[in-house]
Amino acid sequence: MVRRTRRDPRHDILFEPLRIGPKVLRNRFYQVPHCSGLGDVKPFSQAEHRGVKAEGGWAAVSTEYAPVSLESDESPWISARLWDAEDAANLGLMAERAHEFGSLAAIELHHSGAHCYGGEARAWTLAPSQLASDLNAHIVPKAMEQADITRVKAEWVRAARAARDVGFDIIYVYGGHSYLPMQFLSPFYNHREDSYGGSFVNRARFWLELLEDVRNAVGDDCALACRVAVAALGPAGVELDEGLQLVQAADDLVDLWDLTIGSINDWSKDSGASRFFKEGYQLEWTGQVRQATTRPIVGVGRLTSPDLMAEIVRTGAFDLIGAARPSIADPFLPNKIEEGRYDEIRECIGCNVCVMKSEQLHHIGCTQNATAGEEYRRGWHPERFSRAANADLDVLVLGGGPAGMECAITLAKRQMRRVHLVEAAAELGGCMSWIPRLPGLGEWARVVNWRVVQLDRLANVEVIRSVRLTASQVREYGAELVVLATGSRWSSDGLSAATHAPIPGALDHRERVLVPEDVMVSGRRPAGERVLVYDAEGYFVAAGVAELLAIEGYDVELVTCLEQVAPLCDETLEGPMLRQRLHDCGVKLRRGVTLSSIGPEGALGEDEFGEPLSFAVDGVVLVTQRRSDDALYRELEADWGALRDEGVVGLYRVGDCVAPRIPADAIFDGHRLGREIDSADPSVPLPYLRERISLLPGSPALTPAARG
Ligand SMILES: Cc1cc2nc3c(=O)[nH]c(=O)nc-3n(C[C@H](O)[C@H](O)[C@H](O)COP(=O)(O)O)c2cc1C
Ligand code: SF4
Repeated sequence: MVRRTRRDPRHDILFEPLRIGPKVLRNRFYQVPHCSGLGDVKPFSQAEHRGVKAEGGWAAVSTEYAPVSLESDESPWISARLWDAEDAANLGLMAERAHEFGSLAAIELHHSGAHCYGGEARAWTLAPSQLASDLNAHIVPKAMEQADITRVKAEWVRAARAARDVGFDIIYVYGGHSYLPMQFLSPFYNHREDSYGGSFVNRARFWLELLEDVRNAVGDDCALACRVAVAALGPAGVELDEGLQLVQAADDLVDLWDLTIGSINDWSKDSGASRFFKEGYQLEWTGQVRQATTRPIVGVGRLTSPDLMAEIVRTGAFDLIGAARPSIADPFLPNKIEEGRYDEIRECIGCNVCVMKSEQLHHIGCTQNATAGEEYRRGWHPERFSRAANADLDVLVLGGGPAGMECAITLAKRQMRRVHLVEAAAELGGCMSWIPRLPGLGEWARVVNWRVVQLDRLANVEVIRSVRLTASQVREYGAELVVLATGSRWSSDGLSAATHAPIPGALDHRERVLVPEDVMVSGRRPAGERVLVYDAEGYFVAAGVAELLAIEGYDVELVTCLEQVAPLCDETLEGPMLRQRLHDCGVKLRRGVTLSSIGPEGALGEDEFGEPLSFAVDGVVLVTQRRSDDALYRELEADWGALRDEGVVGLYRVGDCVAPRIPADAIFDGHRLGREIDSADPSVPLPYLRERISLLPGSPALTPAARG
């Protein structure tokens, strides 16, 4: 393997140091605040997750939002907090870890004002005016009195001092995303008639006072960063003119402007999914802030291309390349650019599964980076792989979809003697070879492209395409370990969560009933122009197929038994725009309808009240549930004696072949098996470190060092 050691000189500008207030950043890569499901309740995971990014070259790494007071209790969402010395100590671990790699540590001090969930603290919420939260309409806040204003500012100062004392270098006054400072600034939230309401000067007062107080408290020791959504692109904030006005008014108080767009209720504009937003999409607004400030700027927009990054810094639009998702997908992105390892950069695909994990209150996870969030609890480093104890064995991986490719790469990096990846189709990719052909999902092809390049670079991997092995061929292949990654298929009988039974007639009318693979792989199309796409899953596939067929000119009706069209896409921030796009393409949307039969004239169903409905259509596309494609695994597993006779000592399966899942989780599964291939029983995941209070005397201390 030839490793280039120098970057392209065009990218030198990205490695120039930059002063922000009393601190110096070693380069122009800045990990902006992002949630992780770790907060301060999993301090070791938090420290290691950010620490790995510091090691990977990010000059600054930040916490997620960290409420400063009880009235900003975000639970059940998991955030950092800085209420007391214990919170500070927990978060301080992360600062220590960042410093070990020469990076600065930032903390995003925060108050959500009207939007606070308060799931744990049960306090009332506070806001400039008593107006129900547009994020949670049932939450009506207390209008802040002068005493509340004074106290919140004091709590912010206390938190800033505590953060400084445990080693944080950059302290935020977080005003973006329609949180408390923005609520004061925005006439949408602020109906006050006192000195904090009315004119721009009055509405900006709280924010400016807060900045001044925090600056006076820690400004000599720490850099003061201010995060602001300079254009809300909706009512919940301010538009660019007032965004620029704020920047001008506060410029002397701030060491670093961290710019975003959108609001928390319309977060989709900030963490834009690739389906709707191209790389650099925020520049249209944030790129205009330079004219209003003399201070350094960090900006975001799914920035992963070194050329574009260098161009942004060169033109002065931003001084620092900010990243949330690109840093999750590849914690070593800066180092890879610095070392000229461009083809190793694992680019974010903009699927927003990381957001979905956060919305579902889960531990962080990423489609592209299976190690995200696993740095501490499973001891997985994104770039380092220990040699497996059984590395003298050959492994046969059957199925070159996302899970199979990831498993093969991980096994190869663990130095297995030889890894044979055998794929029945002409190209690697499995389901990910057709998913990127759904409208808007082109960037998802990076899942396959990155893995194809890595497989090619690994000397101990052999990729064999267009070969479908039988059970006896597998047994006789000569590999001691066999991993089945044969994926899953959409049920053609209509089996679904709604009824746990096939749809009567589905199998009898195969000529008019299709599944996604028929449309996307075999190129089959409905016999006539009227098509019903039936969705019982609720993620992107049915909506994507419906949009595709509509673009091709079919008369499409998307019928779902769920209460919303593609509800899972709401958790990736795509839902409203996706439904709008379907509507604009002429797709008719029907919610809450369960299909009861399919016949020669079309389909019958019933609505949520049991009222019968009929659909006169020429074709039905069933997107109901997937089933594991595990026939080969079962055949092999049924005759262990025959396997042993041929020297096979381990038979495993990964990904959808075990249970159909979203790509991120299937990829994770493939990675896990590779990491644990030398455990006592690789088919069962090893326990991971759990950060909790244990009352069990002598509780065994698990350490990451014990892992592969
Ligand atoms: C999973 C996730 C969690 C986020 N949590 C926060 C947060 O706690 N505070 C914040 O200011 N922004 C948060 N953001 C927004 C990001 O900081 C960033 O502004 C946005 O994702 C666009 O940048 P990117 O394209 O580099 O991801 C989050 C983004 C993601 C993807
Ligand atoms: S989950 Fe998707 S959007 Fe989030 S960082 Fe990973 S690849 Fe990017």
